[in-house]
Amino acid sequence: MVTKIAIFASGTGTNFSALHQAIINQKLPAKISLVVVDQPNAPVIAKAQALGIPVFIVNYRAYAEKKLAELAIIEQLNLHRVTLILLAGYMRILTPTLITAYPNQIINIHPALLPNFPGRHGILDAYQANVKLTGVTVHYVDTGIDTGTIIQQMTVPRLATDTLADLEKRIHAAEHQLYPAVLAKLLSEE
Ligand code: GRF
Repeated sequence: MVTKIAIFASGTGTNFSALHQAIINQKLPAKISLVVVDQPNAPVIAKAQALGIPVFIVNYRAYAEKKLAELAIIEQLNLHRVTLILLAGYMRILTPTLITAYPNQIINIHPALLPNFPGRHGILDAYQANVKLTGVTVHYVDTGIDTGTIIQQMTVPRLATDTLADLEKRIHAAEHQLYPAVLAKLLSEE
């Protein structure tokens, strides 16, 4: 069975592309049925549109409260029959409205070894802390900031000679490998 997924993103969308490529390569029995974006100029929008994938751009400021924005998202998810949500650089905390609508069906990727370095700047924070080992975490989403149950992690060494850009490059390469691999495993267990 092909699982219909939605990818939520706010930026570049390299994880979106990696997941799409894994589907094309028949590594993932899934279809990206919808991309949800909260930033009207995010490069991920053009990437999705070029592939003919529907994009829902949600302007949170147009809603009186976050819950209403999430209800509008849920309406779109229902319309596209989405059963799995993948956050990939979505820079917003979800509320119980969305989380309870998709119990254990929302997953995130974080560019550090949680519970270390949660939040927006996982790579920078690990770099500045001078750790020798950092990495990438795929986890279920709850209402906290990067606090949900960890599914799988991949370590990434931080070399003494690394610039921040070197480390970022290695972390992103790990993300693009880990996210599709974890999903392939999860979907095969369903
Ligand atoms: C990734 O590093 C992800 O872990 C973080 O935001 C970044 C998104 O990158 N949460 P991209 O938009 O997938 O290129």
